[in-house]
Amino acid sequence: MFGEKRPLCLEIGFGDGRYLEFLAQRQPRCNVLGLEISHRSLTKAERLLPHYPNLRVLHSSAELALLQLFAPAELAEVHINFPDPWFKQGHRGRRLLRQEVLPLLLNRMAVGSLLRLATDVLPYAEAMAALLQQEAALSNLLPQPAAAPWTTERPFGPPTKYEQRARQAGRTCYYFAYRRNDASTPGTAEPKRIEEWPLPHLVFHSPLSITEMQREFERQFSPRTIAATHPSAAEIHLHYLAVYATEDADALLFETFVREGALHQRLALHLTRQRPHATNEERRYTLSLSGIGHPRATPGCHWALAVLGRWLLQLHPAARVIHQRLRGWDEVVSALS
Ligand SMILES: C[S@@+](CC[C@H](N)C(=O)[O-])C[C@H]1O[C@@H](n2cnc3c(N)ncnc32)[C@H](O)[C@@H]1O
Repeated sequence: MFGEKRPLCLEIGFGDGRYLEFLAQRQPRCNVLGLEISHRSLTKAERLLPHYPNLRVLHSSAELALLQLFAPAELAEVHINFPDPWFKQGHRGRRLLRQEVLPLLLNRMAVGSLLRLATDVLPYAEAMAALLQQEAALSNLLPQPAAAPWTTERPFGPPTKYEQRARQAGRTCYYFAYRRNDASTPGTAEPKRIEEWPLPHLVFHSPLSITEMQREFERQFSPRTIAATHPSAAEIHLHYLAVYATEDADALLFETFVREGALHQRLALHLTRQRPHATNEERRYTLSLSGIGHPRATPGCHWALAVLGRWLLQLHPAARVIHQRLRGWDEVVSALS
């Protein structure tokens, strides 16, 4: 992405980009990467790019980027300013810095790299302190001998937008500074990336027409969504949201949402009728992954296609598989029979 390999400095959730700009300005010899999930923030940050050749921004959740995009020990600095606090008890599992994400972060941080965090939410600060203090691979950089879990004076860089708001509202801010040391703990082990498999497809015969299959889907699936969980990989969830037909009723698109760990894909499964070569030839269909949305052919996509394919087949007793390239097909068949 940068054209030249230099120490990589990451800001997660850069908001209006003012701190990101500070990082790019202060460290021209570093590659600075900002991660955001907000389109607005990304669009806003575009104005900075022409001025800083060492700056890039990326639309991705931090959890997914950390898992899929970085090599172990690739990051020289990580900055997280005022992450979304998720106040509600039930939503705390969505907080960025939590037990499951820390090992991933530590794996991606180089020995000697910096981790800087700030929040104005005391319960979040307390949770972060508890998490970070017990991690042997992190050394607290705050002045010794007190080595408090946080300081309430900004130790580095300009205030961010959220920080200004918090201070104006009279809230205290909590800042953390850690260095990744060379301790190797279970938390620093290489995490398992989401694999990519060959493109999945299923060719089958069914006496039903495209329109009949569409009607069945609308009757049984829509507007409800169904969620299925992979029996061998519990973290895959599928939601079949809607079906769309071509005008000539030759093909269907099934809008589908696949969630597997940090990867969320909204994709389309494509059902087409193969052109008959002879008038009395049986109806053959191909179910495949459409290119809409540039999906990655992950285990979740194979599972989504297999579950839908199995459902289409069970609509008629004479339907049968002709050919398939689907990992997990046998599991789906036995799980759904
Ligand atoms: C409370 S705002 C703080 C923005 C900025 N850092 C500041 O201090 O002004 C949190 C930001 O993190 C972004 N964000 C939330 N969850 C994220 C995630 N999982 N990965 C990347 N960015 C995320 C949000 O879009 C939002 O812009």
